[in-house]
Amino acid sequence: MSLTRRQFIWTTAAASLSWPLAAQREHASVDRRFQHGVASGDPLGDRIILWTRVTPRDPLTHEPITVRWRVGADPDLQHVLSSGTSETAAGRDYTVKVDVGGLAPGATYYYAFDVDGEQSSIGRTKTFPAAGVDRMRFALVSCSNYPAGFFNSYAAIARRLDLDAVVHVGDYIYEFAEGEYGVGAAIGRVPDPPREAITLMDYRLRYATYRTDPDLQEAHRLFPFIAVWDDHEICNDAWAGGAINHNPERGEGDWATRKAAAYKAYLEWMPIRESADPSIHLYRTFQFGGLLDLVMLDTRALRDKQLPSSDTAGLADPRRTLLGAAQEAWLFDQLRSSERANTPWTLLGQQVVFSPITLPGTRVTNTDVWDGYPAQRTRVLDFVEREHIRNLVILTGDAHSSWGFDVPRNPWAGYRPGTGEGSLAVELVTPAISSPSPLMFAGKDGPDTAAAVRVAFPHVKYLDGVRHGYVIVDLTPKLMTASWYFSPDVRIHSDVEVAGSSFVSERGSSHLQPA
Ligand SMILES: [Fe+2]
Repeated sequence: MSLTRRQFIWTTAAASLSWPLAAQREHASVDRRFQHGVASGDPLGDRIILWTRVTPRDPLTHEPITVRWRVGADPDLQHVLSSGTSETAAGRDYTVKVDVGGLAPGATYYYAFDVDGEQSSIGRTKTFPAAGVDRMRFALVSCSNYPAGFFNSYAAIARRLDLDAVVHVGDYIYEFAEGEYGVGAAIGRVPDPPREAITLMDYRLRYATYRTDPDLQEAHRLFPFIAVWDDHEICNDAWAGGAINHNPERGEGDWATRKAAAYKAYLEWMPIRESADPSIHLYRTFQFGGLLDLVMLDTRALRDKQLPSSDTAGLADPRRTLLGAAQEAWLFDQLRSSERANTPWTLLGQQVVFSPITLPGTRVTNTDVWDGYPAQRTRVLDFVEREHIRNLVILTGDAHSSWGFDVPRNPWAGYRPGTGEGSLAVELVTPAISSPSPLMFAGKDGPDTAAAVRVAFPHVKYLDGVRHGYVIVDLTPKLMTASWYFSPDVRIHSDVEVAGSSFVSERGSSHLQPA
């Protein structure tokens, strides 16, 4: 299925339309026509994606609706710098996506949408600076599971004043039926539809459920998101040609149809700039003011099938791929050009744990992560070493637990844990916003397991196996600081937040140390 940007972004050239007085009221009112809020994403130096969804007055309509948008530099949007119209219809679930250009780099903007005299809430967003920046700060998030708990951490992020963007590395939704991976009924959070999401309508309803969450809405309203999907945007342990949780024998249809439906709904609902490339993938790079390049990888859409851990010969096959050949070559180009430009930091935003987490002489514990694709990881590390890349920070989700790693080829040979000698990068793993913690850490033996992991794996600098939250990543030309923040109980809607640990990495060290 070919999904091009042209099909999704139906934007007219900015038109000099007058703005109705009725639309200039306070944004805090209940927006009957904009029930799913506003969002922005994929900031560049001169442009940014703005998003909303219009709720049609007639729920059965298929008629197109014309939405007006405007952008200004003041919070009340009294002075409009740019405006235009966008047409949406049932074919894209009445979502609206506008790629607004002609903006100034490193600037804060406010924006709103208007239909039939009703105005959306006013969103705030920020373009990336072009040059000469000495600081960037963003939140790293993943794994927000609606029935499993409240999005307290999205609310905490929305309360922050100091972020340039939110980086979401996947599992923005979960496909499961109510009760299968979190009991929403007990806390008033049953997702729509309550059965497993399989069809296009199912996935659209699921995004609509998530986007009615006020905490997620507020985070989207206040900060641009840079997002990539993982498996649960389709279904558990997806690979290019199928998934463990896809069961045609249970009436779930064919894989290609389900994958296309899931991806279409994702692209409709997320503030992402879509590629003109007809193959569906989400890898892309963002440059931030000469301070960092954020290289977003897609380790899900193009990967080979996961193998059982018993298949040691198969796992070692050099032809196996997590990225696909084209993305691997593209990644190497990005790393090389970042290094040649002497960019202080290169960040790899991606989904699954990169660092080795299998003890010598044992079978791979999780073949869904880079441990299950070791030849490709070795090629990446070979490239990093050969090109003398010493500024790499890998950003990861998926693990539902918090980790900080040095990234040596082999944690037990050629690596000095005290100095980081032999480490080629550092890796930060963000905990889940609300998904259940891994049983190995959450059970009664959890603390002992975590303690044993810390002893057995010398490159693990930080591990919290239980708590929910997010990571704040702060970068200056010489120092990267990662700070974990936690929500103590996601089964309660609460603004209580606990600061976890902070770690730093000096540029050029590829080594994490306590702050
Ligand atoms: Fe997850």
